[in-house]
Amino acid sequence: TEKEIIGSQKQQLAKLFEESLKAAFPDVSDVQPLIAICNDAKHGDYQCNNAMSLWNKLKGKCTQLKGPQPVGKAIIENLPASEMIEKCSIAGPGFVNIVLARQWIAKSLQKMLIDGIETWAPKLPVKRTVVDFSSPNIAKEMHVGHLRSTIIGDTLARMLEFSNVEVLRRNHVGDWGTQFGMLIEFLFDQFPNWEADSTPAIGDLEGFYKASKQRFDSDADFKERAQKAVVSRQGGEEKYRMAWAQICEISRKEFQKVYERLGVHLEEKGESFYNPYIPKALELLNEKGLIEESEGARVIFIEGKKIPLIVVKRDGGFNYASTDLTALWYRLNEEKADWMIYVTDVGQREHFEMFFSAAKRAGWLPSNEKDYPKASHVGFGLVLGEDGKRFRTRSTEVVKLVDLLDEAKSRCKLALEERGKAKEWTAEELEQTAEAVGYGAVKYADLKNNRLTNYTFNFDQMLSDKGNTAVYLLYAHARICSIIRKSGRDIEELKKSGAIDLAHPDERMLGLHLLQFAEIVEEACTNLLPNLVCEYLYNISEDFTRFYTNCQVVGSAEETSRLLLCEATAVVMRKCFHLLDMTGNTSG
Ligand code: ARG
Repeated sequence: TEKEIIGSQKQQLAKLFEESLKAAFPDVSDVQPLIAICNDAKHGDYQCNNAMSLWNKLKGKCTQLKGPQPVGKAIIENLPASEMIEKCSIAGPGFVNIVLARQWIAKSLQKMLIDGIETWAPKLPVKRTVVDFSSPNIAKEMHVGHLRSTIIGDTLARMLEFSNVEVLRRNHVGDWGTQFGMLIEFLFDQFPNWEADSTPAIGDLEGFYKASKQRFDSDADFKERAQKAVVSRQGGEEKYRMAWAQICEISRKEFQKVYERLGVHLEEKGESFYNPYIPKALELLNEKGLIEESEGARVIFIEGKKIPLIVVKRDGGFNYASTDLTALWYRLNEEKADWMIYVTDVGQREHFEMFFSAAKRAGWLPSNEKDYPKASHVGFGLVLGEDGKRFRTRSTEVVKLVDLLDEAKSRCKLALEERGKAKEWTAEELEQTAEAVGYGAVKYADLKNNRLTNYTFNFDQMLSDKGNTAVYLLYAHARICSIIRKSGRDIEELKKSGAIDLAHPDERMLGLHLLQFAEIVEEACTNLLPNLVCEYLYNISEDFTRFYTNCQVVGSAEETSRLLLCEATAVVMRKCFHLLDMTGNTSG
């Protein structure tokens, strides 16, 4: 049987207060309950902030209530009976402080242990989203920027999937630029016996790209051929289409290696996919009168922007913007998505703002940001080196993604060997753990910062077992599991027969915060901020430490209850690891 999804604590409270608001103020329509975590934990766990604005609405009208305080009081008086709330009190201008019932917190934790943490999934107002992430460019190396996009995008997708939203994970690879003319022509040059049905042995596609670029810049005859090749390719001429497909396939295999390592799944729908739809999409925009002529190009003017969005270049070709507008149209109309999320560096913000605005002008998207369907750009900052400059290796090269992952793994392996694990574990276990922890550390170090800030890439820091790091958190979780194991009690049995009691304040605090898991995920999804989950995870580990320091678990009179609280902590932490994809490559 399907287990009921309860939604977050905040959502449950909101429901109660919505009823109260309706009952207390039947004449005021459309008041959304405003529930927040209490500013001061001394006064309560949550607060309801409706009284002030309600008072402002009521003031002029005839009412017996005088001031926001009585309004707050009326809200409390009309609350339906619920075992969730222990007591409410009024503070300042009508804030309603809410203290949750200890028994209710305990019961909710117990229920979760039996029904599974999936029942805590937040309820989001969307059904199907597109997460457009990773999206490297063919024949170019995936760099740290693509790593960030891959990591952030994957986590957002996981959080949305956990929240029962259908996610279309889209790899919008750059497979349709003018650079293909040059690449194809160079391919024919380098492989005079080129065949359509066998993939040429280009080991180093990036080197191939550079060499062809050099030729393009220095050889006028080659340049001309390359430009003609673009036309042949875009015109769909078979030989050129085949050569293009081969080049893409070589790149794709390289990208796939990275995705496999990271355990990330996405579906490629590259720029080329949308190409056949561009004329139709532009025609729709044209019918709305959006497209104008400007200096030989066809453009869309955007309010507040000096430079228009070019949708057809002067040479008649399409560009990044025409593709993105068309992809948006496709996602809205063919894929019926109600939220389009794009993960790229902040440097592309302008591009997204521009074509989102164009889509609003066309009526494809509602003009109010709050309404759906919605398009959101998830920008992120730079990865910096120790010198504070953009992260690079010795030369001017960008850092290769694969090298980073290799190094994280080998450093972890070394650390594990130093701890004597090589003797304890099989070679395979060592390898797998080094990989899980190493990759997890790279991901976590990236995700824990607000994505918009630049961060410094530092192996020593991210692989440290102290502070807010993946290693620290993974160990903290392992320690909790070992407490349970060493107790010798059968935790599955305890879940059924035992009960949680949260008599000690540190127990209550831990329990309350565990219960906040759903609303943290909800907020992280709504604001597209994975760092909230990292922050939460770290705070939970701190709450646990406080609890474990002050409350004896094994051998105490409260052993059963406390072991269950340990188990609940481990379950929540594991779910966070899962959402942040820190559990290692699950695909093999
Ligand atoms: N290929 C682009 C780049 O490497 C990112 C594409 C992002 N997605 C999009 N729909 N524009 O910068």
